[in-house]
Amino acid sequence: MTTWASHFGLGEPPFSKEIGDSDLWLPPSKKQLVEQLTTALHERASVLLVGEPGVGKTCVLRALRQNLPQAGFRLTYCHNATLGRRDFYRQLCLVLGLAPSATAASVFYAVSTHVEDLGKERVHPVLLLDEAHLLHQDTLEHLHILLNYEWDRKALLSLVLVGLPELEDRLCLRKNRSLNSRLHWRLRIDPLVPDDTAAYIRFRLQKAGIERELFTTDAIAMLHEATHGTLRDIDRIATWALMTAAQRSMRLVERDTLAAVLQTDTGGA
Ligand SMILES: Nc1ncnc2c1ncn2[C@@H]1O[C@H](COP(=O)(O)OP(=O)(O)OP(=O)(O)O)[C@@H](O)[C@H]1O
Ligand SMILES: [Mg+2]
Repeated sequence: MTTWASHFGLGEPPFSKEIGDSDLWLPPSKKQLVEQLTTALHERASVLLVGEPGVGKTCVLRALRQNLPQAGFRLTYCHNATLGRRDFYRQLCLVLGLAPSATAASVFYAVSTHVEDLGKERVHPVLLLDEAHLLHQDTLEHLHILLNYEWDRKALLSLVLVGLPELEDRLCLRKNRSLNSRLHWRLRIDPLVPDDTAAYIRFRLQKAGIERELFTTDAIAMLHEATHGTLRDIDRIATWALMTAAQRSMRLVERDTLAAVLQTDTGGA
């Protein structure tokens, strides 16, 4: 147990990224997103999900994994989006448990046959492509082919493209219109509103075993303003604030402590 955490009677650092899937914070806005994603996948549709860095996109995918029935779907999570087309298909083979082939054509054949087999077993494959704003153009251009199967009557799989808002801008380019027009669901995660920031902080502290407030209302308002409601920034600054308050032997993070932390923070919040 780290000293600053024990100073507050915390069993573990409360704002760590190592949060279990079943412990994720799901306020109504995030629950709604998970429900929308679930509905889209039941409809065998493909989805675009965008949001600024650290707003909780990947965590929503984890909540989706928890929410989807195990039988009926095979989720493949892929976050190495910087690959060229051939390497991308090779990686897809690997995550699907297929032998990677040397040419793009044979890899595509192996992937589509495998996906067809899954279809016979009534398992719908879902490819979650995280960091998709980093996809190479030649990979992006090829993706719609995975969604065009049996004379475009069916999709081989559902694609969930997740990334920064510039992904949406890229998809709006004329050269990407085949893919863009096949993404029937377009979802966005917005940063938190002030009440949500307070609820998030309370939630994470409770998960770490603390029921009392550790931040004053003022400090939370300041934290929200400084981070614009971005969860990863909240995590970092709240942690530094707790550490600083512990160094100062204070039981509560007050406005002054937070101001001191913000002065030295260079993380972009
Ligand atoms: N629903 C949630 N419950 C608990 N913590 C969360 C939740 N969403 C986000 N967080 C916290 O915020 C951090 C950032 O979230 P996440 O990695 O999902 O953001 P992201 O939008 O995928 O960011 P990036 O664009 O940089 O990949 C997580 O490590 C976690 O600590
Ligand atoms: Mg992410």
